[in-house]
Amino acid sequence: MSGVGTPARVLDGAGVAAAICESLRPRIEDVRRAAGRPPALGLLLAGSDPGSEVYVRNKIRESEALGMRTALKRLPDSAAFGEALAVVDAFNADPGVDGILVQSPLPAGMGDDAERRIFAAIDPSKDVDGFHPENVGRLVQQTPALAPCTPAGVMELLDRCSVPLVGRRAVVIGRSDIVGKPLAMLLLHRHATVTICHSRTVDLPRVAAQADVLVAAVGRPAFVTADFVKPGATVVDVGTNTLTDRDRVTSIFGAGSKKLAAFDRRGRVLSGDVHPGVADVAGAITPVPGGVGPLTIAMLLSNTVQAAERRLGLRS
Ligand code: GUN
Repeated sequence: MSGVGTPARVLDGAGVAAAICESLRPRIEDVRRAAGRPPALGLLLAGSDPGSEVYVRNKIRESEALGMRTALKRLPDSAAFGEALAVVDAFNADPGVDGILVQSPLPAGMGDDAERRIFAAIDPSKDVDGFHPENVGRLVQQTPALAPCTPAGVMELLDRCSVPLVGRRAVVIGRSDIVGKPLAMLLLHRHATVTICHSRTVDLPRVAAQADVLVAAVGRPAFVTADFVKPGATVVDVGTNTLTDRDRVTSIFGAGSKKLAAFDRRGRVLSGDVHPGVADVAGAITPVPGGVGPLTIAMLLSNTVQAAERRLGLRS
């Protein structure tokens, strides 16, 4: 473990994701042999959220790179909830679709509760996001389930990088249904002592600084600064925030930084939720990009293969 002054070990999420994807190849071949086609993922992208466009494009690219099939249905921002439901119903009924992913967020016009309702409409056996209430319940009860991709990816990374969890303090900043809550549950099942923090947590830096494993999933660029971090802690950065303001990039990364040079070439850069100064205090840290992001996609592919295997009776 390092501490103040020694740069943190960088946890190579992209490398771990590549290893996970490679390990899926023989299983994809087995599905192809048994079903006469590779595992197939149905995606619904409703609206034109720029982040979602990128995520969905990457999910399709990586699926197809492994020889899996994808079917993308798009709906406009103006679409009614019923149209989204009809796409999910069609995927549910289609024996050629093993996994279903409805990209979040849905357009605001579909209503406040639209995401919960659409996730609940997905056949739980095809729910590769793990957001259906049955899969959420199975996750809580620690019975076999399709687990949400980002939390499952974080656990893979921690395991493959031999980060100890039993009896350790884990602090998760963020309480979303997609990351914070399910990740807290997975850490708990591995016998960590888990605290979930959020916008109303009093004295957040002091609570965070108790963590041996600190996870930032708040969606605010460079929110977690060095004073949040116990020397030697493992810091997992789930944030993928796009910065388009040069002054902001300069204040976070510094005037001579590579990020600022990249900003000057492209007009935008990615920032995690963790400030770069944390690398001087943490023992290990995930980069952005190249940390948790590739793992999310790898676990989506893994869940899709798993769903196909179950439907074909290749696994219980
Ligand atoms: N939007 C941001 N993250 C996710 C995710 O993991 N799954 C889906 N469906 N939408 C998202």
